[in-house]
Amino acid sequence: MKLLEDLVARVEKWKALDQVAEPVARAVGRAARPAPVRNVLSGTVIGHPLHPLLTDVPIGAWTMAAVLDLAGGPSTAHAADVLVATGLAAAVPTAATGLNDWSDTQGADRRIGLVHATANSVALTFYTASLAARLQGRRGAGKALALAGYGCVMAGGYLGGHLVYARGVNVNRTAWRRGPRRWTDVLADTDLAAGGHRRVQAGSVSVLLVRDGNRIEALDSVCSHMGGPLEKGTIDGGCVTCPWHGSTFRLADGAVVRGPATAPQPGYETRVQDGRIQLRLRS
Ligand code: FES
Repeated sequence: MKLLEDLVARVEKWKALDQVAEPVARAVGRAARPAPVRNVLSGTVIGHPLHPLLTDVPIGAWTMAAVLDLAGGPSTAHAADVLVATGLAAAVPTAATGLNDWSDTQGADRRIGLVHATANSVALTFYTASLAARLQGRRGAGKALALAGYGCVMAGGYLGGHLVYARGVNVNRTAWRRGPRRWTDVLADTDLAAGGHRRVQAGSVSVLLVRDGNRIEALDSVCSHMGGPLEKGTIDGGCVTCPWHGSTFRLADGAVVRGPATAPQPGYETRVQDGRIQLRLRS
């Protein structure tokens, strides 16, 4: 595995890839900018990243096709063909969601993501050729092409797993951030101007405080998407928009109004006691 790790480390540092990755990521970002498109592709509408969920379909279908190709007989040939076609159909939305997620990455993550996408695109080409060969009755060629495609899918899957589990891409950045459960003093009431906002420390976490009319709203200041600083974002209409990729959260409860974030921001109750603003984690 050391060889594999070294290879991945080289890709992470291979800056020449940026010349391709950056213009492509910009173009994808532009295409996915409308909020409804973003909310669907990111998985905001289901409250969970959509891409990892969709990958199960092509990988599952092609795995079963490989089993039938290798261990089945003439009676399972048609089923294997259907599975190859199912994987191809599912690969289109899977790739669209992956491209959307990838467009938000930077540096080493973006380079790994580019190679991940390339491996999967090569797999798609092999499987398309495999299906064509199967439909022409060239079953041996169809099987060989599918197995080559499966190898590429496994390589792509390894890199996808590396992005999430080793590099933390698209992991909820607030998952382990929980501020005080008891009322905690954070700021003098006079230090938060009308319509103003401040980043304050509450126990081990930083919190965004916003004075909105008569209310003081409080959310974790680290964006759940990729850790953007919400105190540097835009506050408007009862919402805060992250300066990094535009995720918008409702101040009153932290709900995601616009993706790419899929997880809500942890929110806090607030009160003013003896001229001091206090907060505690919303139950
Ligand atoms: S870090 Fe991506 S939207 Fe906030």
